[in-house]
Amino acid sequence: MTPPPDNIIATETLGSTVPMKTVHVRSWGCQMNVYDSQRMVDLLAPLGYRPVDRADGADIVILNTCHIREKATEKLFSELGRLKETKQAKAASGGNMILAVAGCVAQAEGPVIMARARHVDIVVGPQSYHSLPELVARASRAKGEPILMTDFPVESKFDHLPEEASPRGVSAFLTIQEGCDKFCAFCVVPYTRGAEYSRPPGDILVEAARLALSGVRELTLLGQNVNAYHGGARDGTIWTLGQLIRAVAEIPGIDRIRYTTSHPNDMDDALIAAHAQVPALMPFLHLPVQSGSDRILARMNRKHSAADYLAVIERLRAARPDIALSSDFIVGFPGETEKDFQATLDLVVAVGFAQAYSFKYSPRPGTPASSAADAVPEAVKSERLARLQATILKGQMRFNQASVGQIVPVLLDRAGSRPGQLHGRSPHMQSVHVAAPVHLLGRIVSVRIEDGRALSLTGSLIQTEPGGMVT
Ligand code: SAH
Ligand code: SF4
Ligand code: F3S
Repeated sequence: MTPPPDNIIATETLGSTVPMKTVHVRSWGCQMNVYDSQRMVDLLAPLGYRPVDRADGADIVILNTCHIREKATEKLFSELGRLKETKQAKAASGGNMILAVAGCVAQAEGPVIMARARHVDIVVGPQSYHSLPELVARASRAKGEPILMTDFPVESKFDHLPEEASPRGVSAFLTIQEGCDKFCAFCVVPYTRGAEYSRPPGDILVEAARLALSGVRELTLLGQNVNAYHGGARDGTIWTLGQLIRAVAEIPGIDRIRYTTSHPNDMDDALIAAHAQVPALMPFLHLPVQSGSDRILARMNRKHSAADYLAVIERLRAARPDIALSSDFIVGFPGETEKDFQATLDLVVAVGFAQAYSFKYSPRPGTPASSAADAVPEAVKSERLARLQATILKGQMRFNQASVGQIVPVLLDRAGSRPGQLHGRSPHMQSVHVAAPVHLLGRIVSVRIEDGRALSLTGSLIQTEPGGMVT
């Protein structure tokens, strides 16, 4: 039998072969955008769209954008420029490519996108993408008439999302909270994602159980401010993140739980206690601090000092002595002096982060800090960023080298970069490369760590019999 062409599925419906349509989703930004992109694919699956890796030839192309730092809009427009040709090529072959811009740039710059890129069919914000099936249907009918949907609907989009259309692999994201009420002076998130909203715990547990049944073993609970979670249960009680984590840990099959991103002011006692008492909760926390200078933290409207942050770390370490920490830093925030910056370097050394992300401050339209008169020159920002990154990298190297000689449980999640190697994660979120047979993908194996570099570890499998070191 001749195999069907690539865009035809072999399933017979009413006696005829059904051509499958394709959707290509490209995602920038945070893990919540990754989750949203997967949910967009889920929404379009019942309409006959299957995901593909390339934009060329796709029937729908969705750009799921991020607005957090500089040039986000310019990057989008150059991508849209390239896609104009892709869309023209599809039209030349008699097809129609629907081009959609989603995510935080769509939310912030919707009308600008519509005006500057006339070939965009749909602009849809992060709180309205559950309407995609309807928007796609409208766009197919009204060819060339662009649609803008950037409301913050009253009803939750989560109530309109279908079940997952395909398995998520061994490690999955689950958004439990959205939006932010904190209004840090540099940040666009409260404007692009809107006010804080927590999903009901029952809905989250159902989704988590479904993911576990599909083979997920590690679940990362997501929110822009995930530890501000306060979900209303059906019985009228309000659950905190600590409570939710305990309930998720009860789901058979879920062996590892993580959560991100947290704010230092929302690390309550119940959550810290969960780190001591819930074995599935991994000993790793991403806890952004942004700066080590109290003066800059106040100007950033962070509502905590460097000492407050260090006190949270101390409480966490008292509960879970082996907890590894990660953070975000901004250098060159308006008014930052060399002394302020030195305080950031001091904090990095004092905490001893296992890893950390650092960024040059980027003025974002509409945020309070963007109109500050005392901007730090670009050259100074670059020079400070280089120094900060060197300090972070040194700490990272030290942390990874301390793993050498240890036996570490590694969840194998994908093929490694070299033939015969698999990649996995340690409980501390370190990337581990190990020579292992493919059938162990999705398993937790014991690895003796033999080498520790700044970005990853390598080791060898120490035992593979079922019931032994492999689970
Ligand atoms: N909700 C999270 C993170 C949000 S954005 C939190 O509260 O920490 C991710 C990171 O991007 C931030 O932690 C911050 O370090 C960085 N960031 C946000 N806005 C920025 C800006 N205008 N310039 C540079 N970095 C920024
Ligand atoms: Fe942005 Fe601050 Fe909210 Fe984080 S807490 S999303 S940095 S406003
Ligand atoms: Fe970016 Fe929006 Fe996430 S601005 S970081 S995609 S919340």
